[in-house]
Parts: sequence; structure tokens; C-alpha cells
Amino acid sequence: IYGPNRKNSQGVNLNIRSQYQPLMDAMAAHMDTRYEARPLLAFDVATDPARVHEVTSPYDRRQTVGSVLWTSQEQAQQALDAAWAAFPRWDATPVAERAAILRRFADLMETHLAELMALCSREGGKLLTDGVDEIREAVDFCRYYAARAEEIFAEPTRLPGPTGESNDLMMGGKGVFAAISPWNFPVAIFCGQVVATAVAGNTVLAKPAEQTSIVAHRVVELLHEAGMPRDVVQLLPGDGPTVGSVLTSDPRVTGVVFTGGTDTAQVINRALASRENAALPTLVAETGGMNAMIVDSTALPEQVVADVIHSAFQSAGQRCSALRVLYLQDDVADRVIEILDGAMAELQVGDPRDLGTDVGPVIDEEARQALQAHIDRLKGEGRLVAETRLDPAHTANGTFIAPAAFQIDGIEALEREQFGPILHIVRYQASEIDRVIESINGRGYGLTFGVHSRNESFADEIAQKVRVGNVYVNRNIIGAVVGVQPFGGQGLSGTGPKAGGPNYLLRFATEKTVTVNT
Ligand code: NAD
Ligand code: ALA
Repeated sequence: IYGPNRKNSQGVNLNIRSQYQPLMDAMAAHMDTRYEARPLLAFDVATDPARVHEVTSPYDRRQTVGSVLWTSQEQAQQALDAAWAAFPRWDATPVAERAAILRRFADLMETHLAELMALCSREGGKLLTDGVDEIREAVDFCRYYAARAEEIFAEPTRLPGPTGESNDLMMGGKGVFAAISPWNFPVAIFCGQVVATAVAGNTVLAKPAEQTSIVAHRVVELLHEAGMPRDVVQLLPGDGPTVGSVLTSDPRVTGVVFTGGTDTAQVINRALASRENAALPTLVAETGGMNAMIVDSTALPEQVVADVIHSAFQSAGQRCSALRVLYLQDDVADRVIEILDGAMAELQVGDPRDLGTDVGPVIDEEARQALQAHIDRLKGEGRLVAETRLDPAHTANGTFIAPAAFQIDGIEALEREQFGPILHIVRYQASEIDRVIESINGRGYGLTFGVHSRNESFADEIAQKVRVGNVYVNRNIIGAVVGVQPFGGQGLSGTGPKAGGPNYLLRFATEKTVTVNT
């Protein structure tokens, strides 16, 4: 899987009409369907009107996507019983069979690309380009982890030792994993967590984000269709704390793979730590970022702006990897800001299903209000540098935020991650570069980072000094590619494992050494 012949999923090129049009036609067939999602457990679940939640589209709250039946705590407990019972059988299933399910699932997702993209757009507000990337990443996770699992789990490793003994290192699953995912990659991250834990031999209780449970439901239907046993991967849509408290309090849950906010990861960490008579758990947490980019005076301003626009505003800034703080060396700052101002004025905010849209909606009204409050506060302080105008004809019925850029004094001024299309700009003098690095490191997050410079040794030195998971030089800082750019952060941004990297599956595996006196 490291060789030049390994290929990532091709996806669809939306710039080529012969690829774009058939996809649009196929998506149209799923644009009016009303979906009814529900827990997909090892046993059937009766409907309860008190737990049915309606889902509407972020770009137009008058449009219904469907409904979701949330999981009760009692059902979560029963699902856990089933997952616990299924573990020994699944762990003993040959890895080739487990990997084959992932490969069939990847093929099925490609076959259902149009429907999954329609759901990403209707439920998650995703742009078409983001939708294509989303499904490609999910497919890549399946194929990459399938191949890697076959390398890790197929045969024990015979280790040399004293004469008269054989020593075998055997790899297996750990037990039951809770996989808790966010709404911003409702297919890619959701699938990545589920297939990685399952192919390593664990049984999985998948808790999707409240906002994107319908697409998760469709994905798990496809996974079951691909042959994944219903007691090995179960879907538990529902309220985070309600379902989460069952999953994080039961001693039979061996580990949690979590992607979401840093605060939520800390709640889960505390819950796992306070369990009595429980094995010490594995927590793989991939959390938020306060990602910075440093631009020095040798950088090319036009390229910087193109990469800044991409990094800060693609996916409406709702990527953990998105650029939040742009450090501009004073000599080049005015020129970069002038071009940025022009570029931001041209951005089209609106319906994500329209290929001409650059920035879609934010996920919900709660997110919109929190972002708007931050914008209003910085505007009130006279810090606005550039902004995009909203056209009410395209945005009146959805939860939209106009991209905005503000000047601030330093990354310390930001209390928390602002998860939307808001860019903060800090000017610095060349002599202050060490202090800049110190404050970026000192803020405690460590996910993505960018540097724009034509001075190679400057870029190398900065890349070495900054404590983050992914560094990008002279390019945008989003869109890590599975198998090529293993992704994940450190510090407040996560426990460190790299999704889409060669070591990820090891986090979900036990190692057993068997020594035989021959
Ligand atoms: P969130 O933390 O609000 O929710 C994430 C998941 O946790 C949801 O499924 C939610 O229901 C669940 N949850 C909430 N409370 C819980 C509890 N007490 N116990 C168990 N589960 C609980 O995050 P979000 O708003 O869905 O996602 C956005 C966040 O995710 C951002 O901070 C973003 O940076 C982060 N993120 C990180 C990465 C990464 O790889 N580092 C990738 C994507 C998103
Ligand atoms: N893996 C995603 C990115 O790199 C979050 O943007």
C-alpha cells in the first residue's frame, strides 16, 4: 500500500460536463425523497413518536429531509450487550473476510455516490465539490484500511529468540469501541472511524452527530448490505450526552474513537476515567484546531490569497483543518490584504447545490448565532478588514454567514475555535518571528499549519519549530489525502493518531506475545 501503484478513488470531475451532468441527473432523483432514519441495531426497534426528530436543510429551513428516531438509553445498553457478545466471533473472523467487506462497501458507496452526495448537501449543506471529496475520502479509508489490516492482522510475526523457543507476536481486536463522530464530515469521518475499528477486529457502536444522522443511516445500510454483520457495527443516532453517557460509563467499552470539539473530548475522557472496575480504556480523540499560516515577505501574494481563500472559506470554514489565523509580515501585508479584499468581494454565498456557489450555509441556527456574535463583537471593535456580502435572494431561508476577515493582535486573543468562515489576521515584523512561533505553540492547539515563503531555509525552520500534526508549505492547508497525508493533531487538537496513515489501525489493536518452549 505504499507503492506507486496504490490509487486513491477517482471521484467525479465536476468541470467536465460529461461527468457533471449525469451526476446532477442522478442526484435529482434523491432531492425530494423523505428519509426515515432509525437506530440500526442487532435487534429491531419499535417506533416511539416522542423520540422522532425532524431534519431540515441548512440552506433552506422550509425543506424537510426526513426524520430520525433517536436511540433510548435502554436500547443503547442492549446494543452494547449484543456488541459484547459478538466480539469473540468477529475477532476470530479471518482478516481477509473483514477486509473484503470493506472493499465491497467502498464499491457500494461509489455506486451510490449521487444519493450520498444529495444527502450530504440536503442534510449537511455541503457544496458539490465537498460532496465529491467526502465520498472519495470515505472510499479511500475503506480500501486503505482493508489493505493495511491484511498486512497487520493476517499472520503472527515470528520473532527471533533463544534456541528452543518460538516467539510469536499476534495482533487482535481490543473489544467494543464507541465511534462518536461530528457533522462536518458525516460520511468520511463517520466511515473512517467505523471501518478502522471494525477491520481491526472490534465490534462498534457508531454514534453519528445529531445534525447528520440520516446520511449516517444510509451509509450503515450500505455497510450491512456489503456483509458487515448487524451485531458488529450498530448505529445509535441520538443526543450526544444521552447516548454518550451509556457508551462512556459501561466498563465493557474498551475504547472510544471520537472526533469533535475539544470540550466534548474532555467530557468523554473524564467519564472514561471515572469508571470503576473497568479496563483502562483507549481514547483516540481528534478535536478542534486554531490553525495558523505564516507569510513572509518573499511569498507570492496572489498565490497566498488563493490558498488563504481555499483554506479559510472552503466548506464555509467548517473544517477542523481550516485556517483561522493568518500572520502577515508587515512588508507584504497591505498587498495581500488588498488582493484578499478583492477576492472576498467576489465569493458567492448560497445554495450548495449550485456549482457557482463558493460558500454554503453553516450547519444550524445555533452555529450561525455564535459566529454572528463573534463577527459583531470584532466589528464593534473596528477590526473588520474585508468581507463578502450576502445576497438575501440566495440566503434568506438558510443559516448563512458572510465570510469576514478581521485584524487581531495575536492568536491569544481568540478564546475558542470559531468554526465558520471567519479569518483573523495578525501583522508581524521580521524580527518578531520567534515570538510568533512561541505564541502559536503556546496557544496549545496543534492541528494544521501553513507557511508561505520562497526562502526554503525559513520555511524549513518554521516547519520544524511548530508543534502541529500537519504542516503545509506554499499551498492551502486543508484536504489531507488518505494514505498520502496522514491526518491528526496534538495537544488540544487530539491524542495524535493519524487517520489515513499506516499506524492508525494499531491504536485499535491488542498485541499478544506467545512463547513456546519447543
Ligand atoms: P461536538 O463535539 O459537538 O460533537 C461531536 C460528537 O460528540 C457528536 O456525535 C455529539 O453528539 C457527540 N457528543 C456530544 N456530547 C457528548 C457526550 N457528553 N458524550 C459522548 N458524545 C457526545 O462536535 P461537532 O460540533 O459535531 O463537530 C465540530 C468539531 O469537530 C469542531 O471542533 C472541529 O474542529 C472538530 N473536528 C475535528 C476533526 C479532526 O480530525 N481533528 C475533524 C472534524 C471535526
Ligand atoms: N482531513 C480533513 C482535512 O484535511 C479534515 O481538511
